[in-house]
Amino acid sequence: MSDAKKLFIKTYGCQMNVYDSERMAEAMGADGYTLTEVVEEADMVLLNTCHIREKASEKLFSDLGRLRPLKDAKPDLKIGVAGCVAQAEGAEIQRRMPLVDIVVGPQAYHRLPALARATGPQVDTEFPAEDKFDHLPERKALRGPTAFLTVQEGCDKFCAFCVVPYTRGAEVSRPVDRILRETRDLVSRGVREVTLLGQNVNGYHGMGEGGDWTLGRLIRALAEVDGLERIRYMTSHPNDMDDDLIAAHGDVPQLMPYLHLPVQSGSDRILKAMNRKHTRDDYFRVIERIRAARPDTLFSSDFIVGFPGETDADFEATLDLVRRVGFGQSYSFKYSARPGTPAAEKPPVEADVADRRLQELQALILEQQRAGQEAMVGREVTVLYEKPGRQPGQMVGKSDHLHAVHVNDATGKVGELARVRVLASSANSLSAVRIS
Ligand code: SAH
Ligand code: SF4
Ligand code: F3S
Repeated sequence: MSDAKKLFIKTYGCQMNVYDSERMAEAMGADGYTLTEVVEEADMVLLNTCHIREKASEKLFSDLGRLRPLKDAKPDLKIGVAGCVAQAEGAEIQRRMPLVDIVVGPQAYHRLPALARATGPQVDTEFPAEDKFDHLPERKALRGPTAFLTVQEGCDKFCAFCVVPYTRGAEVSRPVDRILRETRDLVSRGVREVTLLGQNVNGYHGMGEGGDWTLGRLIRALAEVDGLERIRYMTSHPNDMDDDLIAAHGDVPQLMPYLHLPVQSGSDRILKAMNRKHTRDDYFRVIERIRAARPDTLFSSDFIVGFPGETDADFEATLDLVRRVGFGQSYSFKYSARPGTPAAEKPPVEADVADRRLQELQALILEQQRAGQEAMVGREVTVLYEKPGRQPGQMVGKSDHLHAVHVNDATGKVGELARVRVLASSANSLSAVRIS
């Protein structure tokens, strides 16, 4: 296909955007586009954007500025902006950056091929009545052993700092049969591990046999899919961890012992101001119950420091929560005021105070992460090989606890589950040798 058009995609933000970019690439593939990693070769450039913090969002505009010379040299080049900035800013993006041809929101991207065929500026930020997943082409090509799979989208929680309920819309869950079908299709193409995605994935309530299914029930059904070895899910809200889902952590062997459960703050006062609708004790109780079901579960969380009104005492409470839980990993962010959210109306914490808190929290998180990795040395773990390593005779993959592992294994194959012994721990990964 010498006349195939080339599509370059850059993805910002969360895993759901990664999944969406894959699906958009497939939708454009049906229209004759193949992917390129070289932006200069592209007939179309698609930026799949994130609106979560100001920095993420402003990045789009600097990247668009850098595309201007390319667009001048290639006037037929199509430039598209997808994702959460597209949803939030709509046609404003084209007013600010007239080189943008297409603006398409996260719920309308199945219409991207039609928008790309049209001439003149195009904007589609609707939340259409039809299901975008029903309008995407079937997937065919073989692929790597891990995959993301969106099962739920949108958020009804309205945390006071967050744009997601506005950019992704209300909570919607995909029906069970579509998810099972997509999973079987992924497995037939080489996938061994799926990560079920949702902005609030444990709030999943999809139509299945006999009515409304919860995430726990969905996971139990997925565990029956032949060839699917591992199941993960993210991101969860502490208030939606129901009994059956917690029990599944104990009795579904494919469900991996790693859970991303954001808490944002360890201070009850701040949690209340954030509209999180749970206390720090509620969080401790959920962690305890999951550990009772599956004692070796490793937790990760997200934290925001410098939320309006956060005092030194509030921040101390966050450090205390981190010490008490002991996280395998965590992500921490400096609060960013987002237009249209309730918290943006409140006076901010001084920037240097927030910076100092961020550094302190990140140091503690890193210390816990390092200690957790060190504790793996000498142990036997299972690794799913994702790709060959940089050194000859080496494979790279993830352990059940989501540690990145480099394994000395000259005969290992991508997609294999291998038992290995951990020999050493470095900054961000473990090294190991195969034992079976
Ligand atoms: N749905 C998920 C993830 C939301 S976005 C959840 O409920 O946890 C990912 C993370 O970005 C959030 O957990 C939060 O820690 C961070 N975040 C969201 N809005 C932010 C803001 N305005 N400023 C700084 N960090 C923010
Ligand atoms: Fe944002 Fe809160 Fe919803 Fe997570 S639960 S997406 S932080 S509003
Ligand atoms: Fe960003 Fe949208 Fe994901 S704002 S974090 S890309 S849901």
